[in-house]
Amino acid sequence: MEANPPKRKETRKSLRIKVISMGNAEVGKSCIIKRYCEKRFVPKYLATIGIDYGVTKVQVRDREIKVNIFDMAGHPFFYEVRNEFYKDTQGVILVYDVGQKESFDALDAWLAEMKQELGPHGNMENIVFVVCANKIDCTKHRSVDESEGRLWAESRGFLYFETSAQTGEGINEMFQTFYSAIIDLCDNGGKRPPSSMGVGFTKEQADAIRRIRNSKDSWDMLGVKPGATRDEVNKAYRKLAVLLHPDKCVAPGSEDAFKAVVNARTALLKNIK
Ligand code: GTP
Ligand code: MG
Repeated sequence: MEANPPKRKETRKSLRIKVISMGNAEVGKSCIIKRYCEKRFVPKYLATIGIDYGVTKVQVRDREIKVNIFDMAGHPFFYEVRNEFYKDTQGVILVYDVGQKESFDALDAWLAEMKQELGPHGNMENIVFVVCANKIDCTKHRSVDESEGRLWAESRGFLYFETSAQTGEGINEMFQTFYSAIIDLCDNGGKRPPSSMGVGFTKEQADAIRRIRNSKDSWDMLGVKPGATRDEVNKAYRKLAVLLHPDKCVAPGSEDAFKAVVNARTALLKNIK
């Protein structure tokens, strides 16, 4: 009988990765990093000037990783300094303030800035993005709800976490999941593993939820012209109900969108003869 071949010793090199933070000024990028690395919170706003650089060693699963963190300034003034630092990045922490809708709306512009700086050969597909909906401790002023943020993130294949650098909520889970996904990416030869690509819902569903959320009245919500007939209202309703039925649609916010559509139909039919 053949002897068992000697077990190869698992040699797992320690990894070196580069991570950057992005998002508008004052959303809490530096505080999130500080909370994780130094376990503290500074209430006073000290704007990052250009870039802050730091190195930390972290243990994730059974791996030790050396993380080079480039914490970027969010102010437009520092664009010239920032643009040097986008390349060779494995992970991006994309932050907005849940009490500041503009900072959420600005996320697309941040992605566009990065894409532009990486140039035509840059590949955003093989970077791990985590979206932090930060300052969730400020519940009174919240203007972007969880499902809206989650939908934006997940429809792009990004991770999503609700965080507070002040209380520490969500911060450790966010970094652990983020680093773990980067390890998977590196182990997969620098390509996003197929398992992390599927989002579980379609673009049509995500677009419908967004459109419903932003609609100005019941007609608009169902996508019919004011004065439409009962038949037209019912037809539009059925189409959306099939698309967004909570039993079939897992997109964040689908339940609320479905309810809103049911209510819109009821309201419209009341007034149509
Ligand atoms: P720039 O460096 O200018 O791009 O800003 P930044 O995104 O790094 O923001 P920073 O971390 O400096 O935080 C901005 C302000 O928000 C500071 O006054 C922080 O104390 C405050 N802040 C950050 N995170 C939180 C949070 O989770 N909750 C609350 N309540 N305040 C926070
Ligand atoms: Mg900062």
